[in-house]
This record gives sequence, C-alpha cells and structure tokens, in this order.
Amino acid sequence: TSQALQRAESLIATIPDFPEPGILFRDISPLLANADALRASVDALIEPFAGQFDVVAGIEARGFLLAGAVAIAAGVGMAPIRKAGKLPRPAASVDYALEYGRASIEMSDDLTPGTRVLLVDDILATGGTLRAGQQLLAELDLKLAGTAVLMELVELDGQAACGPVHSVFQV
Ligand code: PRP
Ligand code: MG
Repeated sequence: TSQALQRAESLIATIPDFPEPGILFRDISPLLANADALRASVDALIEPFAGQFDVVAGIEARGFLLAGAVAIAAGVGMAPIRKAGKLPRPAASVDYALEYGRASIEMSDDLTPGTRVLLVDDILATGGTLRAGQQLLAELDLKLAGTAVLMELVELDGQAACGPVHSVFQV
C-alpha cells in the first residue's frame, strides 16, 4: 500500500558528515528492520518488471541487502556482483570511477547467455556503480531486463549515466 511505502520512506535515515565531512549518508537499515516497510519496498522495486526477469543481480555490498529479498518475492534466483578480488572464478571485470580513485566489480559466469537480469542496488547517486554493473552484464552476454534502486539522489543525475533506472524513492 502507499501508506506502507510512505512509512518505509520515513524510515530511511539521513546522517550528515558520514563517511566524510560534507556527505549526507542515506541509511536504509531502519527500513530493512521493519517487516512491512521491507515488504512494501521490495514489492515496489520489482513492480514494473513483473514477469520480465529470470534472475536478480545485486551489487556488493548494499545491493545484496535487497537482492535476496527480491529473489524470494519474485520467485527467481540471485546472482552476486562483487567488488574485485572476492570471487574465486571471476568471468568478467569492469572498472569504474569513484569520488576518489577507481574500483572494479566482478561476476562469475553462472548464468546462461541471454538470461534476463534485473540489476538492483540500494542507491543511485552518480550512476557510476550501476553503469559498471550494466557493462558487466553486457560483457557476459546477459540481457538487462531493468535497473532498480530503492532511492535516487536526483540532483546527481545518475539517470544520465545509466538510465532509465526505476527508483522507489527520490530525494
Ligand atoms: C554506494 C551505494 C551504491 C553506490 C552509489 O556503494 O551502495 O552502490 O554507492 O553511488 P554511485 O551512483 O555514485 O556509483 P559503495 O560502494 O559506496 O558502498 P557499499 O559497498 O556499502 O555498497
Ligand atoms: Mg553500493
């Protein structure tokens, strides 16, 4: 219900100056801890893509918090996209820009080429992370069924980097 979603949005905490001065950190932990809020949020995350994906991929670390729940709610499997060096058999790797420096993410080749993948993460900021995730799926010949986040930081215009992205909440 929209009431449950409103409650969910109100449970996202905004923490000033974390992890660094000047950064407003959006903490979804209180939302995750509330059963109705979690349920409503996961349902809203997948709603536009119902029946359109075979598996959900979540990006380490906070994407994992949602991907398992999405998988169960949608009745599909889950594939982890991990930060470099964590997977024993990485099949593809993509480099991307962070605010300071660079990072890379990797994925195994457990999925058959052509599998329809819903890519999820917690937050869309600059879009660098999700764009890297999309590139990773493309390198493995997987089909991007959609990209979805809980919260979009609108002023950073991440949609330009990796849109269209479905976001449940916008700030
Ligand atoms: C955070 C967040 C998103 C990403 C969004 O991840 O969880 O994945 O930043 O930023 P972007 O749109 O500018 O790329 P981060 O790697 O900081 O930390 P995490 O490992 O806790 O998910
Ligand atoms: Mg992240």
